[in-house]
Amino acid sequence: MTPASVSDYRELARRRLPKIFFEYIDGGSYAEVTLRRNVADLEAIALRQRVMRDMTQLDMSVEVFGQKLSMPVGLAPVGMAGMYGRRGEVQASAAAAKVGVPFCLSTVGVCSVEEVASAGTPPWFQLYMLKDRGYMAELLARAKAAGCPVLVFTVDLPVPGARYRDVRSGFTGSSGLSGALNTAWQGVTHPAWLWDVWLHGRPHTLGSVVGAIPQSRSVTDFLGWIARNFDRSVTWADLDWVRKTWDGPIVIKGVLDPEDARDALRAGAQGIVVSNHGGRQLDGVRSSISALPAVVDAVGGELEVFLDGGVRSGLDVLKALALGARACFVGRAWAYALGAGGAPMIEKMLGTLRSELAVAMTLTGCNVAREANRALLDVAG
Ligand SMILES: Cc1cc2nc3c(=O)[nH]c(=O)nc-3n(C[C@H](O)[C@H](O)[C@H](O)COP(=O)(O)O)c2cc1C
Repeated sequence: MTPASVSDYRELARRRLPKIFFEYIDGGSYAEVTLRRNVADLEAIALRQRVMRDMTQLDMSVEVFGQKLSMPVGLAPVGMAGMYGRRGEVQASAAAAKVGVPFCLSTVGVCSVEEVASAGTPPWFQLYMLKDRGYMAELLARAKAAGCPVLVFTVDLPVPGARYRDVRSGFTGSSGLSGALNTAWQGVTHPAWLWDVWLHGRPHTLGSVVGAIPQSRSVTDFLGWIARNFDRSVTWADLDWVRKTWDGPIVIKGVLDPEDARDALRAGAQGIVVSNHGGRQLDGVRSSISALPAVVDAVGGELEVFLDGGVRSGLDVLKALALGARACFVGRAWAYALGAGGAPMIEKMLGTLRSELAVAMTLTGCNVAREANRALLDVAG
């Protein structure tokens, strides 16, 4: 199949990846209500069609923290990407650089921040706060030294949400012999992945935090360790602690509430990502897109406001811009594309988002992405 849309990359990834990894990417927490809402609420927004305007000069670029993006899209931090494609984070970073959009590297990436940075462009770096502050300070200093321009501090995961699919697939909860047999069976039944990732994509550790985790052998061991070591005591005051090591822009990821957005501003952040972690944390919370307008009204003039969650097309990107986002991040869309066929597929997927955004801008009479506003939406729709 030649993929035409994000749902096609999803299908290709479903065929190619072992079930444990496909389900890990695809799933959300509990009954996946929020995961569905993220997509459905974006779909339900009606764009306002406008005609007979000169639409020959489209400008999709936006500037963020002094960095020019070729379009208002970035690759969200996705853990363990190196298990979906050989050295997956390096491939994603290369694809993003080619297209001219940012790639944000997860704390729990398979490739370390040094590996990704030295292979090409230094990524934005996403931070999970672990209990070992000494190690965290070191990690921040490493990201700085690697040249990462922006720190994305994820705050909606003091504990991991319960993900039923991961239990059912054997990704979490199975260890020892049954875990090993499960992994072996998954490999044998997915030969393309076995060749690309299992045999040629090693080491399979969490590169940036491997030093903090004694005696872990598999990525699932690592994830278990990390889940036990998230620091639940974190408050806004800890941003001062982060500042001691990090003097660049800080973006707080995982804000849905306007009050939290104001707190982020007061605490000295430069941006926020309106996000519910792609419906993977507290199931039942509202969709990111429905949370966006109130957050923009609260802090839009003073913070860079980004959105992620449910973005599956260029039409979704324009809807988010119309409601006040500076840019969108996509998570599953690039993880599916990586699983479907590595960097070339991620590039192709980003090309698809770009051409869809171009069509949406043309048919709403929006020449300049930076100037998108609520007038692009059909409020009666
Ligand atoms: C497989 C997977 C792994 C993720 N890992 C991380 C992570 O390590 N750090 C983080 O801040 N967010 C993580 N996220 C959340 C994404 O950054 C983003 O918020 C979410 O995927 C956006 O929703 P979407 O998938 O509908 O685009 C992950 C999401 C997925 C699907």
